[in-house]
Amino acid sequence: MYKKINLDYSSLEPFIDNETLDIHYNKHYGKYLDNLNKLLNSVDYDYKFNLLELVKNINIIPENIRGEVLYNAGGVLNHELYFDILNTNGKKEPTGKLLEEINKKYGSFNNFVMKFMDTANKLKGSGFTYLVLNNNELEIINLPNQETPYIFDMTPLIALDMWEHSYYLKYQNNKEQYIKNFFSIIDFNKIEEIYEKEIQKNK
Ligand SMILES: [Fe+2]
Repeated sequence: MYKKINLDYSSLEPFIDNETLDIHYNKHYGKYLDNLNKLLNSVDYDYKFNLLELVKNINIIPENIRGEVLYNAGGVLNHELYFDILNTNGKKEPTGKLLEEINKKYGSFNNFVMKFMDTANKLKGSGFTYLVLNNNELEIINLPNQETPYIFDMTPLIALDMWEHSYYLKYQNNKEQYIKNFFSIIDFNKIEEIYEKEIQKNK
């Protein structure tokens, strides 16, 4: 069975209220994980891959449940990244190589934030906004529902959950404010860790 990540999920108040965080982590994320394990157990899957490897080797899963497995696995991976990079005491701005790349691509960190927020605001329906590494290039993209960048050979560095369940209790229709506040709780220590690991791999 795949298990919940050991998330030290402390309060993200006042940016995300505790009730939303609790429902989001335990009910929504938990449900993707339960669904995934149930589907995999139904075909006696042996859990020989970690979840990321499973997504990359999805063809080993029988075709009749492959789409459902991918959807729920995407839901798990997307939520794990989203929760993992949230921390009210984290590093609010990037430094080092990541900052260099952001400056090269977007002119400044501020421009990057503007572009990310604009992309998130334009997402229609449910989905996530990501900063990804695509062939070693930074890119800001939207993907619908629980599609995960890994299936397109991209590595997500930032994931912003734009499903209404992420913000509706506190922000109702004011998703602009939720998006803005996201930048008060993301932790660039975590993001840089993922980035460094990935560029080392691709050297
Ligand atoms: Fe979510």
